[in-house]
Amino acid sequence: MSMQVKEIELAVGDPASEAWLEVHHAANRAVWGEGTSRTSIEEILDIAPRRHEVRRTFVVLQPGAHGAEGPVAAAQTIRRTRENVDTAGVWLSVHPDHQRQGIGSLLLARCEQSLRDDGCTRIHEHSGAPVEQGDAATGFARASGYRQTLLDLRQDLALPVDDAALTALDPGPDDTAYVIETAVDALPEEWLEDRAVLARRMSTDAPSGDIDLDEEDWDAERVRQQWNTPSPIWALESVARHVPTGRLVAFTDLLVRPGQPDLAIQSDTLVLREHRGHALGLAVKLANLRALQRERPDVRTVRTWNADTNTHMVAINERIGFVVTGWTREWAKEL
Ligand SMILES: CC(C)(COP(=O)(O)OP(=O)(O)OC[C@H]1O[C@@H](n2cnc3c(N)ncnc32)[C@H](O)[C@@H]1OP(=O)(O)O)[C@@H](O)C(=O)NCCC(=O)NCCS
Repeated sequence: MSMQVKEIELAVGDPASEAWLEVHHAANRAVWGEGTSRTSIEEILDIAPRRHEVRRTFVVLQPGAHGAEGPVAAAQTIRRTRENVDTAGVWLSVHPDHQRQGIGSLLLARCEQSLRDDGCTRIHEHSGAPVEQGDAATGFARASGYRQTLLDLRQDLALPVDDAALTALDPGPDDTAYVIETAVDALPEEWLEDRAVLARRMSTDAPSGDIDLDEEDWDAERVRQQWNTPSPIWALESVARHVPTGRLVAFTDLLVRPGQPDLAIQSDTLVLREHRGHALGLAVKLANLRALQRERPDVRTVRTWNADTNTHMVAINERIGFVVTGWTREWAKEL
């Protein structure tokens, strides 16, 4: 049957957009099982401008398959407009009933061409699986000319965790040197300047593996736009304040997405270099965990990713009770 790649515009409430998203969800379920993460068109449309991304959306149609429209594969190209403008992402899925027929390769070639036409020179993307070796995405990425730049472990923590166990892990920092503060869903105005410095450092200090990425140019306005404008994503942030200077020197975030309200995702954590060695990373994470259990008792799982080389963090997570539930690989290809 003849197959065609078509570019579409996503819109909330549009059946073609929902059918496109269902291809991603079906592919995801085949990898991770029924309880896997889900997203929504609303969330996808919200994220792009917030992250200064321009996305183009593609679908492979095979008339007769999966309803009249027949989408068998779905993809989005992701370009950045604020930094790393030459480095794009690709989110691509092939419906499980149509894999291993060359459809993924056809769609990826179209995405890569579209990105080349838009001036991008490389792709940096990740894929995940519950198994360490032998998953489809790894075979596909390698066969498509991508090299692995990083391997992350995924760890899950079942909630609730006993508060006494958390306290036992963390005696708390010396409160004449550091205090921990927590913000629910929006950040206090007076955090924003310091928080921009932390975000800028985050973009260069987190292990990116075997690829060079630009420093992100965060300022208070960008923090406000990302964190303090109405969003379907709920956020919880704890910071460490250095008492003698009054400055924020560490932060950590947990996010809860509307498509999966019982899962909290551990997002960025950073301690400024000059304040490392005081267990502030652990202190802010435990404060956030306590606040999460208080604010969102409906959340059943916390999920985190760390580079496999970050043995210190992985070991701390194990002490809190996290268990390994998957592997994520980052990939790069010059276009
Ligand atoms: C990864 C994925 C996109 C591949 O799509 P596809 O249409 O099956 O891929 P193709 O048929 O074009 O495969 C091209 C080559 O990739 C490799 N490959 C694809 N699937 C593979 C698998 N299950 N195991 C090993 N290698 C595989 C093979 O070398 C294959 O060539 P061959 O069939 O001639 O041996 C698809 O399995 C999928 O949607 N997976 C779930 C979502 C995902 O992980 N997306 C990628 C991350 S964004």
